[in-house]
Amino acid sequence: MARSRTRKALLPVAAAGVLVAALFTGAAPAQAATTQPCDIYASGGTPCVAAHSTTRALYGAYAGSLYQVRRTSDNATQNIAPLAAGGVANAAAQDSFCAGTSCVITIIYDQSGRGNHLTQAPPGGFQGPAAGGYDNLANAVAAPVTVGGHKAYGVFVSPGTGYRDNSTNGIATGDQPEGMYSIFDGTHYNGGCCFDYGNAETSSLDTGNGHMEAIYFGNSKGWGYGAGNGPWVMADLENGLFSGVNAGYNAGNPSVSHRFLTAIVKGQPNHWAIRAGNAQSGGLSTYYNGVRPNVSGYNPMKKEGAIILGIGGDNSVSAAGTFYEGVMTSGYPSDATENSVQANITAAGYATVARPGPAVGSAISLRATTACCTTRYITHSGTTVSTGVVSSSSSATDKANATWYVRSGLANSACVSFESRNTSGSYLRHSNYQLYLNANDGSALFANDATFCPQAGVNGQGNSYMSYNFSLRYLRHYNNSLYIAAHGGSTYNSATAWPDDVSWVSTAPWTP
Ligand code: AHR
Repeated sequence: MARSRTRKALLPVAAAGVLVAALFTGAAPAQAATTQPCDIYASGGTPCVAAHSTTRALYGAYAGSLYQVRRTSDNATQNIAPLAAGGVANAAAQDSFCAGTSCVITIIYDQSGRGNHLTQAPPGGFQGPAAGGYDNLANAVAAPVTVGGHKAYGVFVSPGTGYRDNSTNGIATGDQPEGMYSIFDGTHYNGGCCFDYGNAETSSLDTGNGHMEAIYFGNSKGWGYGAGNGPWVMADLENGLFSGVNAGYNAGNPSVSHRFLTAIVKGQPNHWAIRAGNAQSGGLSTYYNGVRPNVSGYNPMKKEGAIILGIGGDNSVSAAGTFYEGVMTSGYPSDATENSVQANITAAGYATVARPGPAVGSAISLRATTACCTTRYITHSGTTVSTGVVSSSSSATDKANATWYVRSGLANSACVSFESRNTSGSYLRHSNYQLYLNANDGSALFANDATFCPQAGVNGQGNSYMSYNFSLRYLRHYNNSLYIAAHGGSTYNSATAWPDDVSWVSTAPWTP
């Protein structure tokens, strides 16, 4: 039976004054519970002038807000602070605030006390997909991890997502020296432009070579690239991702994909470097350390001092990646200082969380949980995907059509894909936001479209499945058809019943 439907941010920091005073006087912050990356940079004479993290405090004394979330149900916002000064984010506070609805990360606060907060990136050379050409905000629950055994969330950037601050304080301009590091998910990347963290144009426009100095991570070969098939840590210097001194290939820059990846770029007059390492253990390797690129426009640099996350300098919004923490410094940090920061990072204890939902390799059926539809299961008829009523008296064909093998995500093994029980090699995938059953063509696009990341069910039942490449959208039934749906909008994006419509119970397979 068909169902019808009528249906400059605030300074967050209690301790900021202490920290700012400490930074400007060179004194150590008072009563630091522990030493964190920005304490190490300050000791090295290259203090942080921006410090961003949704997972932990980057100063031992920092107890202020790390980030802000906004929930969809009533548009209320909440700041998330560390559990204790210098500690890991209070993810439980976010979970409680966001229970039964969806949340986005609205502000990533600057812990340095300089007010260099990251907010929704505005349109520039390219428009974002959100209202007014702004970029999307990140889904607040899309990148769960633990840090030192405590749950925390990173910033999951699917294409269209971006953060920026075009009016900063203390960030390098011109040819001034600076350093930066970031921790990324080395398994989440693409070849789109440009998953960056760092220094960019204050106009959101491409103003020419040398107007950026940001860390890039991904497998773009459109500009520079390194050994292997990628992904690579490179420097986005504007109109070029540089893996070394040459504009194209540099053999010294290896493919690197640690699940937790420390990535570093630093630059000073006619000198720059790329370094990286495993954020869970070991030290840093230097992939490049030398003069500016051997093409014109990058010496001297013309840095402008904006800060970007997840996008290119001109608001290119095609990139994907996950960010956990990152800082920018005043001055060119020594390798020794960065090595100490890396030791701090590995000691912090980043770890993955177990994937919720049905086990890879199992056969399941997926039952709707909305009150209208609890006898309906995700099923297919040829390439058409819908929900259909299935019972023990259904035909063998109907039972098999409603049975799915859970496969490791075609685009990322942290997520899953659903292969048809009776059409081997065909998977649930979205196209123009609707679900279809299509044969895997082996393309990156198909892999992305067929990958869904399970979370606890938004309505408290079963699981909800986030689209890997449209991370504000979830697998949803609407008038018995299947979509990836945003939480709010017209027709299948309607907020009415969204928490129920995106929640699915895995049952025993109708066809074992
Ligand atoms: O340098 C690579 C990219 O080129 C920049 O991020 C962007 O501004 C331009 O499109």
